Amino acid sequence: MAKDFDSMEDSNRSGNASIHELSDPARRLVIQGGLGLASAALFGSLAGCAATATGSSPAKLGFKAVPPGTTDALVVPDGYVADVIAAWGEPIGVAGNMPPFREDASNTAAEQAVQMGMHHDGIHFYPLAGSSTHGLLVMNHEYTDDGLLHPDGLKTWDAGKVKKAQAAHGVSVIEVALRDGRWQMVRPSRYARRHTAATPFTLQGPAAGHALMKTAADPDGRTVLGTLNNCASGQTPWGTYLSGEENWAFYFDGGDKLTPDQQRWGLRKTGSQSWAPHDERFDAARHPNEFHRFGWVVEIDPMDPAATPVKRTALGRAAHEGAWVAVTKDGRAVVYSGEDARFEYIYKFVSRDRIAPGGARANAQLLDHGTLYVARFDADGTGRWLPLVHGQGPLTPANGFADQGEVLIKTRQASDLLGATRMDRPEWLAIDPKSGEVYCTLTNNSARGAAGQPGVDAANPRANNTMGQIIRWREGGDFDAASFSWNHLVLAGDPANERAEARGNIKGDIFGCPDGLAFDTRGVLWIQTDAHATQMYKGEFARIGNNQMLACDVSTGEVRRFLTGPTNCEITGCTFSPDLTTMFVNVQHPGETPNDRSDPAEPGKYSRWPDFKPGGRPRSATVVVRRKDGGVIGA
Ligand code: FEO
Ligand code: CA
Ligand code: CA
Repeated sequence: MAKDFDSMEDSNRSGNASIHELSDPARRLVIQGGLGLASAALFGSLAGCAATATGSSPAKLGFKAVPPGTTDALVVPDGYVADVIAAWGEPIGVAGNMPPFREDASNTAAEQAVQMGMHHDGIHFYPLAGSSTHGLLVMNHEYTDDGLLHPDGLKTWDAGKVKKAQAAHGVSVIEVALRDGRWQMVRPSRYARRHTAATPFTLQGPAAGHALMKTAADPDGRTVLGTLNNCASGQTPWGTYLSGEENWAFYFDGGDKLTPDQQRWGLRKTGSQSWAPHDERFDAARHPNEFHRFGWVVEIDPMDPAATPVKRTALGRAAHEGAWVAVTKDGRAVVYSGEDARFEYIYKFVSRDRIAPGGARANAQLLDHGTLYVARFDADGTGRWLPLVHGQGPLTPANGFADQGEVLIKTRQASDLLGATRMDRPEWLAIDPKSGEVYCTLTNNSARGAAGQPGVDAANPRANNTMGQIIRWREGGDFDAASFSWNHLVLAGDPANERAEARGNIKGDIFGCPDGLAFDTRGVLWIQTDAHATQMYKGEFARIGNNQMLACDVSTGEVRRFLTGPTNCEITGCTFSPDLTTMFVNVQHPGETPNDRSDPAEPGKYSRWPDFKPGGRPRSATVVVRRKDGGVIGA
């Protein structure tokens, strides 16, 4: 996530009074009801469920920790190897159309549209025929560094550059296989495709066809061109891929007269990308409803190249980091999500219907019907899920909500009225396959406690929170419960920091700014970090080093450093082969500059990873991690 987005992540000026008080963050969870811990009924009954438990032995960390990263290199523990595949610009493998990456960034927009996008993020492995050596990788391309994307950077914007930037956003589907001892892309592949900022998406759910979704180009309000700022990802039990649209608001130009609604969503007079002058739908003064058509969770069926991807409006509009699925005892889907912005919220959606056997096609409407809730974390260690249902409580026409579609389009304002808890930038979530507890990274929030900003509360207990924390909760009975109990797994930081609020309480290796989060099927929690280049230069991260990936045994709380990334990268996105002998990890924006825009005259100023060619560009890429002895990763 880019710095100039960070500076705008304070759009929640709702004025919700904090109802919380600081409390002991390390207290134990109060166990409510009978969750049915790790029961097969919860996790094991649906074919392909990503959260299937694989045994009852406690998770163990069996590798030797690596030191903090200080060089332009990716480092894994002794006994492990890491290979790079699918870097930005590699042809994805469309038959007859596989243009090679050009080091000088002179690939055209049309070429970029059949190459790997930029800034890899959330990723999932979809086995073919259950294989651990052959499958599809689906991954997000969150944003672009236009200093690297074009031969002359951003001396000027023009329509061609906008088209290329749009083609470098979105989602990739590629086929990969372990051949001759090395994972590689399978090219050509009948599965290979890109979804970009120009690909048609169908709108479904209560806001589809709503008056606020209709535009000149789409008078029905049911088809949107493109997905933007796809950050984190989730895998559904029915075999599809969920992706969150995060910082889309900053791609629009708002003009001189911003409405309160537009201001609440962070729209500015001029967007960060200068797309609007060359693609007028991003001019929100001329096309105000196009702004409503982003901020959704999108669903993609990796196995069906002909399927039209869908924006699921029932899950609410937000700066969605991503979306993660749990299953109730009776087989309904519960989708957790958060929005990564200062003082924004955590959500869950409970489907009306049960997951049907038959995969993606049988569940094509599952996420269109159900109830969306927003979380309130109370100071006593319990919490409530507050329903975002039109006509209930303050969500009435008198308060600006004509119908359920408008509640969903204005999810933030509805959550403001319900008194939900304003969090420290919720990033990834993960569901423990053993306990059913739900974990969420709250990456940081340096505005917490600042003048005119919300103060600390129990869930967000530190002012000037530069380090972040991981919160977790246990639902009060089943995943559809109205209440939960919660505590913090850890407050991140460095015990040597001169600021007491930045020291944290980590048991093990130090880190800051947790972002990516994933459980493997053994129940090991993998934590990935995203401290920005500007934070590195401040010195608070001098001992923490480059962004990294750590493993946590949640039964003991021990955190152990597993991987460190190259200079100024972010480590984000993690997925495994079913047998856990291969881990795929994304390395985003190696060499990111403090202002997020590289100088094309010196593209390798901070990093030249992974190619290390003289004068070459750093490239986001997927890293494949394996053990030399072929064993289980992390064990
Ligand atoms: Fe795209 Fe919130 O990181
Ligand atoms: Ca982040
Ligand atoms: Ca993130």
